[in-house]
Amino acid sequence: MRDIGIGLAGFGTVGAGVFLNLEKNRALLRERMGRDLVVRKIAVKDPAKNRAVSVPPALLAKNWRDLLDDPSVEVVVELMGGMEEPRELIMEAIRRGKIVVTGNKALLAEHGAEIFRLATEKRVPVFYEAAVAGGIPIIKAVREAFVANHFRRMRGIINGTSNYILTRMAESGLDFASALSEAQAAGFAEADPALDVNGWDAGHKAIILASLAYGFWVPSKDLLVEGIEGITPGDIRFAAQLGYTIKLLGFIDACPDGSVEVSVQPSLVPNENILASVRGVFNAIAVRGDVVGDALFYGRGAGQDPTASSVISDLADAAIALDSPRESFGFIPHGLYGKLRPAGEVTSAFYLRLGVDDQPGVLARIAGVLGESNIGISSVIQPETPEGELAVLVLMIHDAPRGRVISALQKIRALDCVHGEPALYRVEAAS
Ligand code: NDP
Ligand code: HSE
Repeated sequence: MRDIGIGLAGFGTVGAGVFLNLEKNRALLRERMGRDLVVRKIAVKDPAKNRAVSVPPALLAKNWRDLLDDPSVEVVVELMGGMEEPRELIMEAIRRGKIVVTGNKALLAEHGAEIFRLATEKRVPVFYEAAVAGGIPIIKAVREAFVANHFRRMRGIINGTSNYILTRMAESGLDFASALSEAQAAGFAEADPALDVNGWDAGHKAIILASLAYGFWVPSKDLLVEGIEGITPGDIRFAAQLGYTIKLLGFIDACPDGSVEVSVQPSLVPNENILASVRGVFNAIAVRGDVVGDALFYGRGAGQDPTASSVISDLADAAIALDSPRESFGFIPHGLYGKLRPAGEVTSAFYLRLGVDDQPGVLARIAGVLGESNIGISSVIQPETPEGELAVLVLMIHDAPRGRVISALQKIRALDCVHGEPALYRVEAAS
């Protein structure tokens, strides 16, 4: 039996999880793979740090570059996070013929095209199951299991931290900051949690999924990405009153003209839609293919063990790749699609919340602006407000192109009876 030599770059939440679970299930993995997955070196930023899982001193590397120089390291596992250093590590590992495993969605979203170009040129596989949806094997499903399909669309709750925050706010009345602190303590959040709450962590994952599904590397600069920072307890209550749950959703849609919509938006999901019931750190991705029809993936989207499960599945693939040459190195480009649909052209229903003067005629003025733009209102909520305070006005808007709704909203904001930051969230269909 041959050992597979692994170099771990990063020993934080995920890196330590990989180490622990390789130990825990060593006998099982050996039986299944006929190989021993052996960690030969571990690189960390601060070797003097106190750790919940201690790093065996003999394995400690002074620098992540040591993993590249060690001939016994056949697979480099990048779990440091960040951008420039992981990029350098991964590119150099590929140049030196070392297989790469990474969970770094931010890096792949920004530099996936060049990484996979080099991987293909050097015939070195790059595996990244942990980069999207934690423990859910969605990369393998999209890349391999659904190879027969044109993807019609995907809808995904693909950030565990934001789903955890929204769930805690809705079910326990927790404020945003406390819910975020809980998610950080549990190891769900990114080192920079701004990426979780501003939607970009989900944006990176949507880019990876869409790129895999449509065969061109989706450019991040043109993506519509909105986060959950502006969602108030009031929004959650109004949504519930109307029969919806607020979720941060990734939207990936093939359009009839061959373009592809990719976006991340806070969305009102009808309670009868299965995605509305995805709670806490759980993620779910609903995939629609032209051959398979509808399929749903559900599981823990972040955290030590679920993510380690995905990394170890990549290590098993790496072990196979070491023995048998492959023709696919992580991403297969093709020319059937290739264009991102401008977000302004995408049609959907919307939830609009405004702060307004509590005076007669205000609703008529706002409805007038929407009417002039040929935008229909399906329902209105205006809860009673104490004398002299600003009123909250919630409008549910019928299907309309986003660009048209944004233009009308600019006119509405210019009205002297409208105050503060409005909230505009997409409304998802029942299925
Ligand atoms: P952590 O912040 O917990 O761990 C990062 C690790 O990388 C630490 O051990 C740190 O060292 C080490 N590190 C950072 N910079 C360097 C450097 N320059 N040289 C050597 N080591 C370095 O992050 P996570 O484990 O949470 O995440 C790691 C990656 O996995 C990220 O890309 C993240 O997006 C991704 N991911 C995370 C998930 C999660 O649930 N947490 C889920 C899916 C993906 P030290 O310990 O000394 O500080
Ligand atoms: N911060 C990410 C999340 C980790 O909360 O989903 C998993 O990618």
